[in-house]
Amino acid sequence: MSAITRDAASVITIEQAGQHDAQQVTLRGWLYNVRESGKLLFPIFRDGTGIIQGVCSQKEHPQAFEALRGLTQESSVIVTGIIRAEKRAPGGYEIGVTKVDDPYPIQLKEHGVDFLLDRRHLWIRSPRQAAILRIRAEAIRAAREYMDGQGYTLTDAPVFTPAACEGTTTLFEVNYIDDQKAYLTQSGQLYVEATAMALGKVYTFGPTFRAEKSKTRRHLTEFWMLEPEAAYADLSDMMALGEGLVSHIVQSALKNRQRELETLKRDTAKLANVMPPFPRISYEEAIRILNKHGNSAKMGDDFGGDEETLLSSEYDRPLMVHRYPAAIKAFYMQPDPQRPDLALGFDMLAPEGYGEIIGGGQRVHDYDLLVKRLRENNLPEEAFQWYLDLRRYGSVPHAGFGLGLERTVAWICGTEHIREVIPFPRTIYRVYP
Ligand code: 4AD
Ligand code: MG
Repeated sequence: MSAITRDAASVITIEQAGQHDAQQVTLRGWLYNVRESGKLLFPIFRDGTGIIQGVCSQKEHPQAFEALRGLTQESSVIVTGIIRAEKRAPGGYEIGVTKVDDPYPIQLKEHGVDFLLDRRHLWIRSPRQAAILRIRAEAIRAAREYMDGQGYTLTDAPVFTPAACEGTTTLFEVNYIDDQKAYLTQSGQLYVEATAMALGKVYTFGPTFRAEKSKTRRHLTEFWMLEPEAAYADLSDMMALGEGLVSHIVQSALKNRQRELETLKRDTAKLANVMPPFPRISYEEAIRILNKHGNSAKMGDDFGGDEETLLSSEYDRPLMVHRYPAAIKAFYMQPDPQRPDLALGFDMLAPEGYGEIIGGGQRVHDYDLLVKRLRENNLPEEAFQWYLDLRRYGSVPHAGFGLGLERTVAWICGTEHIREVIPFPRTIYRVYP
């Protein structure tokens, strides 16, 4: 049975009607014409092999009657009914219509998420999904406008890479040409550090990949990241850039996508607050706040969704948490000179439970320290020789961050799950359509 016919009746073409006298069949075609006579409709269907007249009674099949009456000439249509010989009908047979299927599989009624995700290529036609994609486009436009306005140059990073940037557990390995191994990029950061040493202030914006086994509403395996990087910049410069960027994105969406936000019934009062300055607290203060609220997080713990939601619920705009323990952060993070056990990094947590939208900070710029960190993290030094070169030749302090586009857009749109804000989401069990 064909995937677009959900009926048990056998599907035939109009030219085969004569072989199915008195049987129930399904025809797929177009409505050629329709005549109404009292409580009867006489539609004429065509399917490329012929034409056939139908009869449909309002009294006996009210749903089919209404569905047929709602169609315009040349609408595509799938009908089920009984074939019977009728001398007066063109072709000698007619179909007594009992059921009309709208061939478009997505109705206005509620569908399950899996049903919709399997039909994502059609689901995006709904007003809600279209509104989300317009807001996504506005977020990208505004983000680039802001970065360009701050004097940052867009430089692109490769997608095939020789090594991990964000830990080896979420790498997608690719069979590259002639048995060479490559990985899909987890972040453009290492490359944008190189272009920063060439151009000063740069950013990259592109897809990034992580084999995330987590099934949360915040994780995709393919997501887009905007990553600024600046030479001679430090942690506080990046926190200021991050709050400026996020404010500009949110305010631009409010200004230019008002109608779409209305379609989504988004409470925009909560977004209107998103203006600098954003609150900033240290990791150690964050632990104290969590403990005060009965959460048992202790020094050295990484924060999960629960902790992030609890912390951000204290504020009406994004929160920046800085100086996490170096031990739970990436190998490239510069230690705090006052407290070498802490990293000069920060996360930005969105309000309303949307979690971390930015991660970044200052990078190790000292050659010996970087070699030590690579070894501590069991990373292959050969693959990082080019990255070490950036510390061999004219190394300077520098900093940057990564803004997750989908997390940011999910928060602006107020969607339940991040998968709605990318045209074709890729998650743990989904690479279709
Ligand atoms: O905090 P992350 O892992 O930082 C980096 O990748 C740095 N190298 C960026 C940099 O400094 N240039 O990721 C940055 C952001 C997160 O804050 C989050 O918004 C998003 O990327 N992100 C994801 N979004 C969707 N699905 C996932 N699986 C994500 N993982 C990270
Ligand atoms: Mg992070």
